[in-house]
Amino acid sequence: MTNFNLDAFVADLESLRSEVEQTLSKVSDVESLETARVAFLGAKNGRLKAIQKGLSKLGREDKPAGGKQFNAIKKTVESLFSQTSVRMESPSKGAKAIEQIDVTLPGSSIRFGSVHPITQTIRRVSSIMSNLGFEVVDGPEVEDQWHNFEALAIPDEHPARDPLDNFYINVANFDRPVLLRSQTSTVQIRVMEHRKPPLRIVSLGRVYRPDTADATHYPMFHQVEGLLIEPGTTMAHLKSVLRSFASSFLGGDVRVRFRPSFFPFTEPSVEVDMEWNGRWIEMGGAGMVDPAVLASVGYDPNEVCGFAFGLGVERIAARRFGVADIRDFYRNDIRFLEQFHDRGQA
Ligand code: PHE
Repeated sequence: MTNFNLDAFVADLESLRSEVEQTLSKVSDVESLETARVAFLGAKNGRLKAIQKGLSKLGREDKPAGGKQFNAIKKTVESLFSQTSVRMESPSKGAKAIEQIDVTLPGSSIRFGSVHPITQTIRRVSSIMSNLGFEVVDGPEVEDQWHNFEALAIPDEHPARDPLDNFYINVANFDRPVLLRSQTSTVQIRVMEHRKPPLRIVSLGRVYRPDTADATHYPMFHQVEGLLIEPGTTMAHLKSVLRSFASSFLGGDVRVRFRPSFFPFTEPSVEVDMEWNGRWIEMGGAGMVDPAVLASVGYDPNEVCGFAFGLGVERIAARRFGVADIRDFYRNDIRFLEQFHDRGQA
């Protein structure tokens, strides 16, 4: 009877082990492994625990042998579990991650950005002016008074130099007063100082003036500066370049109107208006380069002449895109900016 008890006990242990083996061979994920662990090794209602209770029913002489068998099977079963858990973690972890990508789900759409309308305009203007034979050049945004004023025949007492009309800045260890350039005409000087005529250049970039922002003003804006120095140049050439440019940029036939004006660095000087879709709009200033400017860069005013013009980029962009308030260009409102996808890319 005692022997039978021990045999039955051992048989129970053996069948538990083979059951565990069978179960674990079918386990394919962490969840079912955990379920099996609870069923077989659970501290409260686990199968092993139930068999362990049989130990106390063995006869005293069978207990040591029964205990030994129990411990051996327990160890085997536990190691089967830990092997399975290792198998589960390593190779199938990757497999599981792959399973999680459901290729039948609709993809998430990618949001495309677009080139800012001012940048689009700058690129387009550059490309049109290049086609007209003008070389695109660049200049610094922090300028000295020579390039921003003096070489452009804007004397000390001129109101354009008023501190209230300019962003003068202090630069440590710099001997000359500097400012954020208030116009791109500075680039005319920089190029003429280093090069001999003939010249056909265009420069596009930021300029700064302490204006209160409204629908047509902003303390930072962009200008296109054109300069042509060639023998025999007249106002007629100036007008025809501006008209060719405007027709290419806006499309259709654009009329250009000159109104007499004054700039210290051009003589004669004009305001440039353009008519498009039945409306005239002021686009900037222009004129024949003043002999004093030519002299200040070392040209002989008796030998060379040319024209210069400066247009507001925001104005021509607003015209082309139908924007009523230039502040919209700088509000960073995605609903405004996303309307300029694929429009006017040069
Ligand atoms: N620099 C002038 C301005 O900012 C525009 C201009 C450029 C006028 C070139 C004449 C010639 O108003």
